[in-house]
Amino acid sequence: MPVRIAVIPAAGRGTRFLPATKVVPKELLPVFDTPSLQHTVDEAIGAGIEHVILVSNRAKPAIEVFAETATGGARITVVYQDSPRGLGHAVECARELVGEDPFAVLLPDELMGDSSHLRDLIAEHQASGRTAIGLKRVPRDEVSAYGCITPDGNPDSTGRVVVRDVVEKPKMTDAPSDLVIIGRYVFGHDLFDFLASLKPAANGELQLSDAIGDMARLGKVNGVLISCTRHDTGTPMGMLTASIDAALSRADTGSQLRSWLEARLRGR
Ligand code: G1P
Repeated sequence: MPVRIAVIPAAGRGTRFLPATKVVPKELLPVFDTPSLQHTVDEAIGAGIEHVILVSNRAKPAIEVFAETATGGARITVVYQDSPRGLGHAVECARELVGEDPFAVLLPDELMGDSSHLRDLIAEHQASGRTAIGLKRVPRDEVSAYGCITPDGNPDSTGRVVVRDVVEKPKMTDAPSDLVIIGRYVFGHDLFDFLASLKPAANGELQLSDAIGDMARLGKVNGVLISCTRHDTGTPMGMLTASIDAALSRADTGSQLRSWLEARLRGR
């Protein structure tokens, strides 16, 4: 079945970007000259998505303006998460609009260089019928910032691996592997049943990773290693490197920025 719907959770408060986020939602801060969220929408469209569901909160009316003015041709709908009850709850807020169809989830804190990884996840979901999640190998001391998986052996030559379990943000010493979730997922409609029976985590939130862990223990989750470039735009430094990469790769600005950077780094 084709995957035509994407859910993008965008209800966070953006506290790591204060004071900028007092006036502009984090997802609309520019990566070079384009709102970060437009890059995420473009990635989805490039993987065949036709309907984007933004999960926002009512304190961010600029997200609605974005939905009305976004480019690329996808239909964009905004739904609301009225209280910050976790990523699992945010995705659950899109349940009615998603209906019975399979769907992708893209976390806008992660910016991909292109749509190839999402296309790989969609293909994996279609071939296996299982939930497909994007993975990356990271140094052990970074694992505690992510959802971390227990793999069933090593990834194969195409970067695919069966996921046996998931733990959200483990301590380095408790981490089951160095393979972490990078904010790209493709689910069947059954995710909503797992979310509905989820108990809140210790912090009171409904964790998407806990629902994926429940699915994984039943043999319903495959992982795919990412092979395209990725920036963690959840931090100001990640936003900066993403902007530089975006400007370097553009025909109208790439060579000018490269010359300036080279001169700057030589101390001129
Ligand atoms: C979320 C997920 C986590 C995932 C991460 C990727 O965490 O809960 O499993 O590894 O995104 O960026 P957050 O960064 O929103 O705290």
